[in-house]
Amino acid sequence: MFTRDQRSFETEAGLPCGSPGLPTHLPQLFPKFVAQRSVTLDRCSRDTEFLAGRLCARAALAELCGGAMDISLPIGDSGAPVWPRGFIGSISHAAGLVSAVVAPAARARGIGFDIEAITPESTARTILDDLATVEETTLAQDGHSEIAPGVTALFSLKEAVFKCLYPIVRTYFDFRDVTVESLDLKSGRARVRLVSPVLTGQLGEIVLDGRVAVSGGIIFAGVLLPNEPAAALMPASEGRFRATTTACN
Ligand SMILES: CC(C)(COP(=O)(O)OP(=O)(O)OC[C@H]1O[C@@H](n2cnc3c(N)ncnc32)[C@H](O)[C@@H]1OP(=O)(O)O)[C@@H](O)C(=O)NCCC(=O)NCCS
Repeated sequence: MFTRDQRSFETEAGLPCGSPGLPTHLPQLFPKFVAQRSVTLDRCSRDTEFLAGRLCARAALAELCGGAMDISLPIGDSGAPVWPRGFIGSISHAAGLVSAVVAPAARARGIGFDIEAITPESTARTILDDLATVEETTLAQDGHSEIAPGVTALFSLKEAVFKCLYPIVRTYFDFRDVTVESLDLKSGRARVRLVSPVLTGQLGEIVLDGRVAVSGGIIFAGVLLPNEPAAALMPASEGRFRATTTACN
């Protein structure tokens, strides 16, 4: 993540960065063509998180472009960042961690990334009804008495799907408009089916391949809608994001 210019990044930003600043537990969920930059913050105000997200995004764009980019990344439709032509990206901030992922639009149509602190058990049980079907609840539970990690993963995955697809469909959709068909926190694999006509009407009946990781009490979730045929992308055997969509009919 921050390997080359972490120090100058923090100094330039004047951010209240945590020490040592490098989120060592941040898992890599995406294939190599995705640039990711992250920073930890000591103090989290909304302004600071916003600024840090923009700086992470610019640093990730600079990595893809091989040099700094002087761009503003304005706030667009419904809060989604406006990425420069030729790029897509996603930003998340939670639990003192801020991260941006950016990909060339030639490689992916959409990308969504989300970070969530694992919710308390009581909250997990409260939000489950709004979030999940009976089948998804079973997935989240996975035979454990504690459901908080699984429920947070469901939530985070769906937030990542929203960030990935909203800039394409430009329509608000809800937790019930997508279904998590499989979720395995051990392998980090997940599959998310688009079920609502709001989505399938524009994108077809596809299943998105997702990735989730649990580290330090935090859930990380990523989803990528590829631009290329599945075969051209990273195979699952490489242990990274498989980045396929599967036509269901
Ligand atoms: C927008 C939303 C997904 C943000 O997620 P969050 O967990 O609350 O917060 P995060 O820190 O992870 O993400 C915030 C970032 O999301 C991005 N974002 C906001 N609205 C967005 C949108 N419409 N499309 C894509 N990305 C968006 C922004 O980059 C924002 O950070 P910034 O304001 O600093 O630029 C969430 O607040 C929301 O509105 N959810 C309801 C819709 C939803 O999730 N439906 C479920 C679909 S299955």
